[in-house]
Amino acid sequence: MIGIDIRKAANFLKEDHVIGFPTETVYGLAGNALSEKAVAKIFSVKQRPYFDPLIIHLPNVEYINRYVKEIPSQIELLINKWMPGPLTVLLDKADIISDLVTAGSPRVAIRIPSHPISHELLSNLDFPLAAPSANPFGYISPTCAQHVADQLGDKIPYILDGGPCQVGLESTIVGMEQDQLVIYRKGGLSIDQIKAIIPNVIIREHSSSNPSAPGMLKSHYAPTKAFTLVEDFDLNPSIKKGYITFGQSLAIRAAHLQYDLSPQKDFSIAAQNIFRIMRLLDQSDVQEIEVKLLPEVDLGIAINDRLRRAAVKE
Ligand code: TXA
Ligand code: MG
Repeated sequence: MIGIDIRKAANFLKEDHVIGFPTETVYGLAGNALSEKAVAKIFSVKQRPYFDPLIIHLPNVEYINRYVKEIPSQIELLINKWMPGPLTVLLDKADIISDLVTAGSPRVAIRIPSHPISHELLSNLDFPLAAPSANPFGYISPTCAQHVADQLGDKIPYILDGGPCQVGLESTIVGMEQDQLVIYRKGGLSIDQIKAIIPNVIIREHSSSNPSAPGMLKSHYAPTKAFTLVEDFDLNPSIKKGYITFGQSLAIRAAHLQYDLSPQKDFSIAAQNIFRIMRLLDQSDVQEIEVKLLPEVDLGIAINDRLRRAAVKE
C-alpha cells in the first residue's frame, strides 16, 4: 500500500517490517539496521545475495560517530560539504553494526538523504535504516513509489510516497585506501563535485569477478528487453523498437517509441528521467531498446555507467 503517513511508516519499522521509502536518489527498501530480523527480511524481499552489503541511512551528520570508529580528514571534508546529499561514505564500522549489514566487511556504508520525508522519518526513529534500492536484485532502480509497488508491493506492508526522486541516480560511493580517496560507484554526486573538494581521487571500476567490491556485479540495472548501445540509431528496423535519446528528435515511424532524456541536454534532468524511461520501454510492447551513450561529462558519466551495465548480457 502506498501512503504518505510518516508515523505509520515508523510504526512498521519499529515492528521489524521492511517498507519502501523515498530518498532524493532512488527509493529504498528500508528496515531497522540494528535488527537482524529486519535486515534478513530486506535480503529476502529483494532476493539479494548476502555478499552484497547494505547502506545505512541516518537523519544527520551528528549521528555518524555512533556507527563508525573514526572519520578520516578527507572524508570529513566531503561530509561537511555534501551531506545531506547523494553521497555515501565507507568508514570503519563500530561494533554495533552487524556483519550481516556489511557482508562481513570491516567498513560500513553511511548515507544521509536530503529528501525532507526521509529526514523526517529517520528523525522519528531511534535506529538507522538499512536500505538498498527498492528493486528486485539486478533490475532497474525505482524513482517513484509506483515503481516500488509494481514489483515489491505484495511483499511489503507499506510504501511511503515522497514523489518522484529529484536526483534519479543512486548515491556516489567513496572511501579511503591508505591516504587515497577512491570512488567505488559513480552516482548522483558528480566526480567534478568531489574533485572540487578532494582533487586527487581514483576511480575503481566494479567488476563481476570481484563481487565484494561496491557497485557490484557488472550486469545490473538491467531491463528484461534487449537493450543495445548504438553509435547510430537503426531507424528502419523490421521489429518494433524503442529509442532513448538525449536532446535529439528522431524521424521514426509511428509504430516505434522515442523518449528524450532531456530535450535541452540538461544532465540533471536526464538523470531524473533515465530509470523511469528504461522502465517505460521495458514495459511497453517494443521488442528492443536502443540508446546512445551521453557525453562523458558531468552526470553523463554516471548515466553512461548505468547504460553500459544495463546492456551487459549475462
Ligand atoms: O542512493 C543510494 O545509495 C540508494 C538509496 C536508497 O540510499 N541505495 C542504494 O543501495 O543504491 P544499493 O544497496 O542498491 O547499493 C549500495 C551499494 C552496493 O553495491 C553495495 O555493494 C555497496 O553499496 N556497499 C554497501 N555497503 C558497503 C560496504 N560496507 N563496503 C563496500 N560496499 C558497500
Ligand atoms: Mg541497487
